[in-house]
Amino acid sequence: MGKFYITTAIDYVNGSPHLGHAYEKVLADVIARFRRLMGDEVFFLTGVDEHGQKVQQSARARGIAPQQFCDEVSAEFRALCAKLDISNDDFIRTTEPRHKQVVRALLQQLYDQGEIYRAEYQGFYSTRQEQFLQEKDRNPDGSWPEIYGDVTEITESNYFFRLGKYQDWLIAYLKENEHFVFPRHRQQQVLEFLAEPLNDLCISRPKERLEWGIPLPFDEGYVTYVWFDALVNYYTAVVGKKDFWPADLHVIGKDILVPPHAVYWPIMLKALGLPPPKQVLAHGWWSINGKKMSKSTGNFVEPVAFADKYGVDALRYFMIREMSVGQDSDFSEAQFLARYNAELANNLGNLVNRVLNMTNRFAGGVIPALDADALAASGEPERALAALWDKTRDEAVALHEGYQFHLALERTLAFITATNAYIEHRAPWKLGKSAAPADTALLRAALATMAEALRLGSSLLPAVMPGTVKKIHAVLGYHAGENWRAELTWDARLAGRKVAEAAILFPRPETKPTATKTK
Ligand code: MSP
Repeated sequence: MGKFYITTAIDYVNGSPHLGHAYEKVLADVIARFRRLMGDEVFFLTGVDEHGQKVQQSARARGIAPQQFCDEVSAEFRALCAKLDISNDDFIRTTEPRHKQVVRALLQQLYDQGEIYRAEYQGFYSTRQEQFLQEKDRNPDGSWPEIYGDVTEITESNYFFRLGKYQDWLIAYLKENEHFVFPRHRQQQVLEFLAEPLNDLCISRPKERLEWGIPLPFDEGYVTYVWFDALVNYYTAVVGKKDFWPADLHVIGKDILVPPHAVYWPIMLKALGLPPPKQVLAHGWWSINGKKMSKSTGNFVEPVAFADKYGVDALRYFMIREMSVGQDSDFSEAQFLARYNAELANNLGNLVNRVLNMTNRFAGGVIPALDADALAASGEPERALAALWDKTRDEAVALHEGYQFHLALERTLAFITATNAYIEHRAPWKLGKSAAPADTALLRAALATMAEALRLGSSLLPAVMPGTVKKIHAVLGYHAGENWRAELTWDARLAGRKVAEAAILFPRPETKPTATKTK
């Protein structure tokens, strides 16, 4: 049993949570839950990034103090985690004293080591991105890309971290650790970035320009700038927790891989004498209905409302099934409903109904044991389904290990489809009408087989749909054991369990799809 420390990015609190934030938390939660199932001691951190100019501005615009503003928005992010059934062990806020203390201590250490120096800086500054820009950031026509908002030229005295000094070390480190970034092609992107000389990193802002930040311990006239504050959260949360550093996995979006997580962070840690995280996973971005999400144009999915409408697990399932980790995907209600109906309601939900319904109709609600007659009656279809299970389980576990959750779900649901096909082939409703002893034995075999296949198929789902699996176990009268791997073998443990009367796991949605494709 190992320790596994996993984090998400910490979200800016200048806006409410959206689908991108929801996805990242669900993805990290699936990994955290899977590691727990595999027996690891997991520490799962998420939280919010509360300092910076944008927060200061948003609070001012509302006429409230920045702290109050942060308190309100942070509460929304916490509520999102609760709503989405995120199993985080901690929720960090960068305005907490525990974090400020660590940031200041680390800055002081680097300053004492001579890794931080003061210099004049003149350059183009983007208020929106809170960063100085370089010539290479310009559009080919010389203008600044829209993402930077208003760009102004300023000169100021600031503090710098000796990033450039570690460039060769980082290149060598990445070459030795080819799995540092997932997916692998993004590691290449980091190396391409490092092919250009690395500038030292400006880590401060004068207080006159930015008040809402952590003061530098060696110069109170300055606060530290976004990345030096934000990235350190991962370390803050495990200070005093033995053996949890380095982090095993940082789950982030592709936009904050290069340079923050793959360049600044490992170098900051190196300079501090701390080991770098073991891996950084950069996921893709969601668009909505084929367009960039945007609150102002209404192209926006409010994750809490969506989960309220269709169920938390259905939303979790869709996001994980639809997106191949690392690639971009599009979110549309029509595509959501297509999967909801075909894969959840009509496939998994239907299997649950059939198991309950037929066990009640033909066996007094008690799952039959495979006694000698029933075992003898079972034949090729039962053996084929059991063999498919072994294959499905092995593939699904390996796919989870490789972050290929969409494929793991596809295989799992294919097993559920095969189980439904098995039921149609055996047609217990016909066997139930027959008085022949061979048919009665076959009926018992069929009822035992379908219940066991449902238990097993759903045993591959708790990382993605924890609530649904609990419900399935409950209606089967079953409690899963502590050792997850021991849940994955085909046997007769359900024999004698009393099933529920009925269950509707995925009710028919009340609304029609908002958009449907027609040919
Ligand atoms: N505060 C910084 C991260 C600091 S981590 C030390 C930040 N915050 S953010 O709120 O802008 O983004 C938080 C996470 O949400 C990022 O990993 C980002 O990639 C992710 N997403 C934001 N929009 C997204 C989509 N449209 N789709 C998927 N994820 C997206 O960056």
